Amino acid sequence: MQGHKPHRFGRAHGDFTGRRSHFYDVLARLVLRPVYRRIAADLAGTVPDDADVLDIGTGPGVLVLELARRRPDVKVTATDLSADMVERAERNLREVGERATARVADATDLPFEDGSFDLVVTSFSMHHWAEPEAAVPELARVLRPGGRLAVYDFRDAPFDRLTGAAGERGLFGGGTGERTLFDTGLFFKRRCERLVLSAQPSPSPSGEWRSRNA
Ligand SMILES: C[S@@+](CC[C@H](N)C(=O)[O-])C[C@H]1O[C@@H](n2cnc3c(N)ncnc32)[C@H](O)[C@@H]1O
Repeated sequence: MQGHKPHRFGRAHGDFTGRRSHFYDVLARLVLRPVYRRIAADLAGTVPDDADVLDIGTGPGVLVLELARRRPDVKVTATDLSADMVERAERNLREVGERATARVADATDLPFEDGSFDLVVTSFSMHHWAEPEAAVPELARVLRPGGRLAVYDFRDAPFDRLTGAAGERGLFGGGTGERTLFDTGLFFKRRCERLVLSAQPSPSPSGEWRSRNA
């Protein structure tokens, strides 16, 4: 496990089904929305025109809803291990109509063709994944050449396990990306970080990524 301890929040609330999914949906829409707005603003300036965006561990889908609101040209696909969460996401994403779809999927087994997405994003989910390393080949596979993976999570999430697996497998340019602090405006005591990896080897994996948040 390379020293990774599951996040305390994750241990207490690792089950996102039933009433817990209802609770998280309310929390996401009423309390955490400013966090999703910040992340969506960070992403909105960087995704290409008419991009296809995949969110993994989407929960109630509020992040991709906020992104789709900001970028009317973008299509979003929201996925989660929990069918209850997917149901919540479907409901929340109705507002953007056919530009959004939601389906059940594990980060380690994505039901999409190779090269389907320009951006894969995941927020506050990676620290719940049982095997982050096993997700790396799937994350790389579903990205188009030049596509990007953006991971937002608490600082003690297993970012190193993702980049280590990418390095071992020669994916995402060997796992050399840009990892920076990310100010969510909330979670003051738990600092958050953003990791950006490019689907293709590049001397500057984060390329033209322009954060308005850093
Ligand atoms: C704390 S919630 C985060 C939800 C949302 N992304 C957010 O930022 O609020 C974590 C989510 O990750 C999902 N999840 C956990 N392990 C997963 C996996 N292996 N693949 C896909 N989703 C997973 C859980 O079902 C849960 O909905």
